[in-house]
Amino acid sequence: MHSMPVKISGTGRFLPEKILTNQDFEALVSTTDQWIRERTGITQRHIAGEGESTATMAAEASRNALADAGLKPTEIDMIIVATITPECFFPSTACFVQDSIGANSVPSFDISAACSGYIYALLLGAQFLQNEQYRHVLIIGSETMSRITDYQDRSSCILFGDGAGAVVLSASKDPTGPCIIHSKMHASGANSTMLWVPAGGSRLPTSEMTVRERLHYIKMQGREVYKVAVKKNIEVIERTLAEAGVSPEELAVVIPHQSNLRIIDSAREKLGLPKEKMFTNIQNCGNTSAASIAMGLDECRKTGRLTAGDIVLMVAFGAGWTWASALIRM
Ligand code: UT7
Repeated sequence: MHSMPVKISGTGRFLPEKILTNQDFEALVSTTDQWIRERTGITQRHIAGEGESTATMAAEASRNALADAGLKPTEIDMIIVATITPECFFPSTACFVQDSIGANSVPSFDISAACSGYIYALLLGAQFLQNEQYRHVLIIGSETMSRITDYQDRSSCILFGDGAGAVVLSASKDPTGPCIIHSKMHASGANSTMLWVPAGGSRLPTSEMTVRERLHYIKMQGREVYKVAVKKNIEVIERTLAEAGVSPEELAVVIPHQSNLRIIDSAREKLGLPKEKMFTNIQNCGNTSAASIAMGLDECRKTGRLTAGDIVLMVAFGAGWTWASALIRM
């Protein structure tokens, strides 16, 4: 594939103030701080408070990204929100964000690809820059996972957190400058029901029964998801680097989706990467689905782990299954 000359001109993130610690979970379900740390790496997660939702968090992250890019909301040409916890069935979360930040009547829509959603959205947005249709697109990953988490299910509730990350992606004409060097997107739907929310959609509309049976919450076959996640993460990283002709040593940092610290560590060990080259924030944020890589990119830029010319690899695996990677020169 050809590299796409596009530039990350601004990033931002938002995390709600409220925090749920592992100790809080000890009071909710039969679990321990030690089990959660050892099996997931998580110690706490941010949880949306009253009045906070996927659109409000997305708008906050977007304001930060716009300020970072030095752009006005009216200079944005398109808004894409990656989420599996939208503001409502319709209209799109992106429409709420557009109104909230004061953008023009630009195309605004959501995409749903679970934990891979942010990379899908980024690559989609990049196409509109590459064909010179737009100059700046706003791409957001925002999730209020706490609103679809079953706090009676100890095997899944300890994982998830809320938050949002945003990036302003801008057109660039410099073929030797910032660009998407290589990218991959995949989906395989045969195992869609291994990680899903069964009720509330057209297949099984909300009813007294679905609420009673708690079918409007995440259902996950954790151990199975874990096995596939480890395999696919390593596979997509190795293929991306091989096809791009980039060695692990050339990477400034890898920003993986934050699903489980053990999944991230196994990929790091397979690649032979030192710990400081593998970004993690799962310890403090939990699994924030489409928001995790977006927030990670902002943190890496703002803390100086990523500067101009650096090569970053973003990689995700999640429900669907979906998986994706984006190798970017900053
Ligand atoms: O975002 C992308 C998709 N999501 C993921 O990638 C998540 C992938 N899965 C995972 O991260 C892990 O499978 C979990 C963290 C969900 C579970 O860890 P595990 O090491 O796979 O545990 P397990 O499901 O194999 O369960 C081991 C034991 C079981 O007890 P028995 O049957 O051995 O007696 C569970 O009942 O741990 C028990 N268990 C717990 N114990 C204490 C499950 N959840 C808990 C808990 N506290 N919270």
